Amino acid sequence: MTRPSNDSPAEPTPWGRKHLLGLEDLSKHEIEAILNTADSFVEVSTRSRKKVPTLLGRVVFNLFFENSTRTRTSFSLAAKRLSADTQDFTASASSISKGESFIDTAKNIEAMGADVMVVRHPTPGAPHLLSKHVGASIINAGDGAHEHPTQGLLDMLTIRRAKGRIEGLTVGLVGDISHSRVARSNIWGLTKLGAHVILCGPPTLVPRGMERLGCEVAYHLDNVLPRLDVVNVLRIQFERDQRSVFPSIAEYFRLYGMTQDRIKKGKPDLLLLAPGPINRGVELTPEVADGPHSAILDQVTNGLAVRMAVLYLLSGKSETKGASVEPPALAH
Ligand code: NCD
Repeated sequence: MTRPSNDSPAEPTPWGRKHLLGLEDLSKHEIEAILNTADSFVEVSTRSRKKVPTLLGRVVFNLFFENSTRTRTSFSLAAKRLSADTQDFTASASSISKGESFIDTAKNIEAMGADVMVVRHPTPGAPHLLSKHVGASIINAGDGAHEHPTQGLLDMLTIRRAKGRIEGLTVGLVGDISHSRVARSNIWGLTKLGAHVILCGPPTLVPRGMERLGCEVAYHLDNVLPRLDVVNVLRIQFERDQRSVFPSIAEYFRLYGMTQDRIKKGKPDLLLLAPGPINRGVELTPEVADGPHSAILDQVTNGLAVRMAVLYLLSGKSETKGASVEPPALAH
């Protein structure tokens, strides 16, 4: 028998929410609470013994219906560091290829005792659908071009740790906004935390009406670059047919590529983020990717801490009565 499906956890958890489906639904206070919790997990990762018993006995399943390197391994390692059991499920190696439905597959996985399912799917809303049909906690690890909340959170954690704040900063999201779930989660999170967000890319890659989400839209990177405290360089998603959206890669690179010369036109302490995978020579040069402004590898480190925080908040045991979102006391 499966547990009843609803939006509140069956047992009290530190957060009180059962799922993480997107940043659009979260309040400023909730986002800050996740970042504060993640800060304490960054500290755990610096210890020589990096494992804590927080989720001992819990089962975390990764359900990935789209390719992923960073996100899947980061969630697996995060769950292992919290002492949970983890299992990967990849669509190509599953009964999905024999015709089993998405929901039936998830129900079978739940029958194996999954407490948390980390779901990546090419269809927007797929994790939300699952949250209505299974009793496990669902974490959205990317649904089409909709949201990728843990990426948004790790970008914010990286900015906050580097700059000491998010409020009042100007953050540019550059490149393929249309296909980017990372852009949408950044927009929701950063604007809630008081940053000014500028979306910048070729007009064919910036959907109409994005100003309604509280952002500024610009098409000329060189005009806005000097105002930016942070630039988040989004990948051109070649796998989602891009043939007609700009004349050539060389033209894109000339107008939007992050080069040393362009970086020099920015603020001296400009922070450069890129969610990865990066296409060196398309969105940025190798010198910029590996240079002093780049926080790309910090993002990967912080991603682990964010995923530990989210797993803890959704499925850890509440230490106080009712929902507490304070950072946990982490026993060695
Ligand atoms: C991002 C994604 O999949 O949305 N990557 C990731 O999570 N590691 C960004 C991208 O694919 O460009």
